Amino acid sequence: MASAAPDATAAGLAILRAGGNAADAAVATALALAVVHPEAGNLGGGGFAVVRIGGQAAALDFREAAPAAATPTMYLGADGQPVPGRSLVGPLAAGVPGSPAGLFELQRRFGVLPWAEVVAPAVRLATDGFVVTPRLHGEIAAARGLLARFPASAAAWLPGGVPPPSGSVMKVPALAATLAAYAERGPAAITTGAAAAAIEAASRADGGIITAADLAAYEPVWRDPLRFAAFGWSVAAMPLPSSGGIIMGESVGMLERLHWGALPPGSVQRIHLMVESWRRAYADRFLLGDPATTQAGPVQLLDPAWLARRAAEIDPVRATPSTAVRPWPGTAAAEPRETTHLSVVDASGNAVAITTTLNGAFGCGLLVGPVGILLNNEMDDFATAPGKPNLYGLVQGEANAVGAGKRMLSSMAPTVAWRGDDVLAVGTPGGSYIPTVTEQVLLAVLVDGSPLQAAVDAPRFHHQWLPDEIMAEPAAVAGGVAAELKRRGYALRLVPRLGEVNAVRRHPDGRFEAAADSRGPGAAEVLTPLR
Ligand code: DON
Repeated sequence: MASAAPDATAAGLAILRAGGNAADAAVATALALAVVHPEAGNLGGGGFAVVRIGGQAAALDFREAAPAAATPTMYLGADGQPVPGRSLVGPLAAGVPGSPAGLFELQRRFGVLPWAEVVAPAVRLATDGFVVTPRLHGEIAAARGLLARFPASAAAWLPGGVPPPSGSVMKVPALAATLAAYAERGPAAITTGAAAAAIEAASRADGGIITAADLAAYEPVWRDPLRFAAFGWSVAAMPLPSSGGIIMGESVGMLERLHWGALPPGSVQRIHLMVESWRRAYADRFLLGDPATTQAGPVQLLDPAWLARRAAEIDPVRATPSTAVRPWPGTAAAEPRETTHLSVVDASGNAVAITTTLNGAFGCGLLVGPVGILLNNEMDDFATAPGKPNLYGLVQGEANAVGAGKRMLSSMAPTVAWRGDDVLAVGTPGGSYIPTVTEQVLLAVLVDGSPLQAAVDAPRFHHQWLPDEIMAEPAAVAGGVAAELKRRGYALRLVPRLGEVNAVRRHPDGRFEAAADSRGPGAAEVLTPLR
């Protein structure tokens, strides 16, 4: 059991000890995160779950949807240019939340405990209070300007105008009441009646367009997981509307063909081939969007012939300029950030990986006071102006244009991999670099047999086609690697950290490894063994 907060990991463990399975524990953890990690785990956002339970793999899409009144030009000014901030700040930036119905549905289908028992730890944390962590304090301080714009948000997180000190106890009575009603009545407690009316009113008062009808109409969708083979393991990843699975599947498909696994770990050649595979996979991402409108999908992009062609394009010693790499040709197509990932594997080998997000830290900034739920700013994940970079610098196409009811393209990549009785659940926040971070951890375990904590802590790098540069943690390109990459034609940008992985592995002998990223607030979040 690994999550972004010790209180949330503890909630999941308590549920496992009470006889819950991985689905019960994962949902209890996600709900606890909604209380103690509100900048990311909030019920006013959405997410994805990939599970393998009783040997059956499934993927749940509870991504936010565009409100019925959304239009392709809603974030553009009269000049046709994007209006800065419009898709990021305030409730006009919010998609219809998917988490209330999504978490309920995941537990309904796969959990074994009564629903109310699974919600109980979150109710307790919200009612009795929890200790403000240095991270929460810091995130509130960093988002102060945003939160101060909305009186309910300021009242909750800036009492007396300042962030609550770390170490102080925070109670959230409005959220406690909402969670208690949710425990009793399920998502209808949030998406209908007084709560839905309050969300509509708060949104409308600040220029938003979400209605109670949008909330009531929202449904999570079970989708076939995106499946691919990776160096002898089976992988179940998130399909559209996330690009995460397709990017990893395309990249791994190229790397297998280039015999990447035989190269020395950490070598320049490994970095080179991985970067070139990502450059091509992210170029193809340009065509993706909600599966209802996408111009290409896994059928085209994971086709063996296409993977072989993409692999053959890669020059073994020189960077290919991104301007020379076009998206799949079968069409006419020319992070302040917060997300959180949790992983659970139970004693039976059932695995659940959930990534949820508000998009930016504290989402659009607007807390719906009476409900205690903060609204996301996920609408920025649409190509609000096709061809222009978004919050994460991603350049996206028409398939991902805003449209009523559409789900915005994501990069989130909750993933479960297995080989026989060996099972791994993994994922991370990080916007556009989620798939590349996840893939690096996955391959360190699958290909190199790395211990999980070492795989999670290993230095990382990233490339996303545009901008045409390698982003790298300094240690990933130390010792002459940076110079060699530049010699091969790469632009290099050093960044302090990429991602914050939470991963769990159960070995065939029943031994567990659970790893919370050393880049985040500490190993105390990992409790192992579980048995
Ligand atoms: O769905 C997506 O791809 C983004 N909204 C995720 C944002 C994110 O990971 C921010 N976290 N650091």
